[in-house]
Amino acid sequence: MISPATIEEIKNRVDIVEVVGDFVTLKRSGSSFKALSPFSNEKTPSFYVVPSKGIFKDFSSGKGGDAITFIMEIDGLSYLEALRYLANKYHIEIVEEQSDESIKAQNKRESLFIVLNFAKDYFKEKLLEHEEGQSVGLSYIKEREISEESLEKFELGYSLSLWDGLMKEALEKGYDKDLLEEAGLIINKKEEGKTYDRFRNRVMFPIHNISGKVVAFGARILVKDKKQPKYINSPETELYNKSKILYGLFQAKQAIRQEDNCYLVEGYTDVISMHQTGVHNVVSSSGTALTEDQIKLISRYTKNVTVIFDGDAAGIKASIRGIDMLLEGGLNVRAVALPEGEDPDSYAKQLGTSAFKHFIESESQDIIRFKTHLFLDETQNDPIKRAGVIKDLVTSIAKIDDPIKRTVYLKECSDLLGIDESVLISEQNKILFKKGSASHPQPSDPMENGFAEAFMPAQKSIEKMDILKVIELQERESIRVLMNYGKSRITDQELQDQELVAYFLTEIEEINFINPIYREILEVIKARLQDGELIDGAYLIEHGREEVKKVVVDLLTQRYEVSENWEKKYKIYVPKESELLRDVTYSNILRLKFRVIQHLIETENKKLKNVTEETEVDQLLDEIHELKKIEMTIAGHLGNVTVK
Ligand code: CTP
Ligand code: MN
Repeated sequence: MISPATIEEIKNRVDIVEVVGDFVTLKRSGSSFKALSPFSNEKTPSFYVVPSKGIFKDFSSGKGGDAITFIMEIDGLSYLEALRYLANKYHIEIVEEQSDESIKAQNKRESLFIVLNFAKDYFKEKLLEHEEGQSVGLSYIKEREISEESLEKFELGYSLSLWDGLMKEALEKGYDKDLLEEAGLIINKKEEGKTYDRFRNRVMFPIHNISGKVVAFGARILVKDKKQPKYINSPETELYNKSKILYGLFQAKQAIRQEDNCYLVEGYTDVISMHQTGVHNVVSSSGTALTEDQIKLISRYTKNVTVIFDGDAAGIKASIRGIDMLLEGGLNVRAVALPEGEDPDSYAKQLGTSAFKHFIESESQDIIRFKTHLFLDETQNDPIKRAGVIKDLVTSIAKIDDPIKRTVYLKECSDLLGIDESVLISEQNKILFKKGSASHPQPSDPMENGFAEAFMPAQKSIEKMDILKVIELQERESIRVLMNYGKSRITDQELQDQELVAYFLTEIEEINFINPIYREILEVIKARLQDGELIDGAYLIEHGREEVKKVVVDLLTQRYEVSENWEKKYKIYVPKESELLRDVTYSNILRLKFRVIQHLIETENKKLKNVTEETEVDQLLDEIHELKKIEMTIAGHLGNVTVK
């Protein structure tokens, strides 16, 4: 386990801009940084990093948090894994005991990572050191012209032709049998009472997750054997969901970002070959159809994908439909087909490095043009087929979100097919119309209420909204001010100088918050204050429960604060909230009270409808009258809070 001291050190050392910067290209914007969200396919940046607070906020997906949360989200890691990642990044040493006990005690995912890493090392060692590995595995790898560098980079290995080679060694080392099974390394046939290694007598291709940890294996047979599958792959496990992993992405991600393009190939060996020709921005979907998750994965790094099709016409036609998904994912897609019978591995070897590189760069075409050519020849004399192809093409084009791109493609199609553009346009509109009826709602901006609300005339829109909702908003606003400025000192004619938190808490002592999370936050603040500690958002981000943390991050990242500088852009002077602290706080308290009173009045009025006793009616009317007086007083005060 990681010691609290190490956790402390990690938290002190991390720089959120550096951490996030490894995954997204950040642009400075005032005191914060801005980028396209790595969690969605947005076109205008709504992802912010606020270095002064050590947090990020993604308005498009709603995700937010500190550097640790970011790593957890982007790499799908657990809290501990994220800490390990950061420790590694900042060269902070984690002292860990590796006794049998601790192996068992660590959580499941951690243990799976450890055992898979052991297996990777085991296979590697067998390939390089074991006699069978050298004579069978290594000689095959040499024959395939896989370089030593690739061997290292992709951590290739070899599984011996034994039934229990790996299992024996793992058990000796103290790994749990069930764990080996859960990791997909051994097969346990309970009925037959047999347990044996899943991978035997094969070259091992470890499959890494985005942060370089082994989550699965692909294992290639070395001989031609019709009875056995060419590849055996790990089953799905807690760590390995094949639809969410792209082979080679770990080794490629930096190059993909740099080149701003990602090559997509079919197989493990293709990825390795391309690396050897000097093309590093390449991934493989491991022979299966591309999934939406994989597309999202790619689009974190680039919006440009070039698909390299093996040279087999039937295969291309079968898989090209999957390419529409890339278009739908908002990516710019190009494609290139290799000559009949070739795959990137074989063709790169045949042409040599520079000629191959030149080939894929110069021969690739945008996908619509590629598709048009692909189907055009065979449909030249068959009007029915031709109509089908046209419809298919227009359907692909309609998947593209960007109307300008659509127009360009339609024009191109019309040229290539010799069809009037207007025919294609009307065909497209039909499809778009259907698509439009299932339109997706825009995510609402959670922060629209923040600052604006504090200066909004009190009565506005109150009738339209449920009063309880309004109270909750007001509670939110109170917590927001506390989280941002709790430690600031404010001055008041009567109260003189004191911390905002203290002032606030005394003022709203008699009010119970409706929203459970806000109530919880308030309780924590109160409890800490009783121990003489002043806290603000930073404290809760560090110590709060996940739900609390999320809310606090939301409240710490305000749209107005992180967005363009209004002052410069529109020559409008927006007073800084911190400058107006006293007024903001005061009006905020008033507003909260005002809404609470309104709610009470509303409740009393409801009661009034149901009572019949005259005395009760009188009593209620009296109460309402009193409340109304308070309401008026507060409203009067509110009117006096001026916006400078
Ligand atoms: N594949 C698989 N199981 C199989 C066959 C293929 O999982 N039985 C996947 C592998 O990920 C493989 C990819 O599909 O890498 C492409 O298949 P193929 O072209 O047959 O394999 P290559 O990787 O090109 O292998 P080689 O170069 O050795 O023929
Ligand atoms: Mn192949």
